[in-house]
Amino acid sequence: MKKFTKFFVIILTVFTAIFSASFANKNAVSAASNNKKKVLVVYFSRTKGVYGGNLKQGNTARVAKYIQQHTDADIYEIVPKKNYPNDYEKTTEVAQKEQETDARPAIKGKLPNVKKYDAIFIGAPIWWGEYPMVVRTFLDEAKGLNGKNLIPFTTHEGSGLGNTSEQLRQQFPKAKVQRGFSVNGNKVKNDPKAVKKQVDSWLNKLNY
Ligand SMILES: Cc1cc2nc3c(=O)[nH]c(=O)nc-3n(C[C@H](O)[C@H](O)[C@H](O)COP(=O)(O)O)c2cc1C
Repeated sequence: MKKFTKFFVIILTVFTAIFSASFANKNAVSAASNNKKKVLVVYFSRTKGVYGGNLKQGNTARVAKYIQQHTDADIYEIVPKKNYPNDYEKTTEVAQKEQETDARPAIKGKLPNVKKYDAIFIGAPIWWGEYPMVVRTFLDEAKGLNGKNLIPFTTHEGSGLGNTSEQLRQQFPKAKVQRGFSVNGNKVKNDPKAVKKQVDSWLNKLNY
């Protein structure tokens, strides 16, 4: 009887060990897969015709690259077929006209296959309170955004995210639109290290 009890205890211990190991393993796998979302960063950004003078690197482009580094993402730049003017005032006029006419300026080259990704960050400078219309072209033409995690990010001179989150929610009702990030364009230019920190902390909170 005593022998039997000992045998039973050993069997039970072995089973418990195997069960808890496999459970721990499962948790590790699911935690890893949570952090291993396949991410695409899409952005539009300019170095000329920007408020405050020309830049070496566009404000939004910098933020896009910080997101890419943090999330190990693929990155895609929206390049308009027709360039905007190099002058700031003229750019604001063209942009306003595009908005008034609900234009969809053509994009140069092929669009990425967004279906391959779990999450798509979509960034741009705020133009007249919204995404520039060339970004709206992307939203219309990149088939498969509905149902994805969509995260807006912007640079601006006071408008924050503008109506970018609302645009995504309204156009893609089945998407999960997550909390976006916005930062003043001049801050990106003058204190990029601080902005990188802000980007990292925002992404950590979102679990990316
Ligand atoms: C056509 C145009 C319209 C703009 N409209 C706004 C606006 O409505 N609100 C705002 O805060 N900033 C506005 N800005 C400023 C830009 O959003 C800001 O300079 C941004 O950081 C530029 O980023 P980029 O270098 O990535 O193009 C506008 C700039 C341009 C050129």
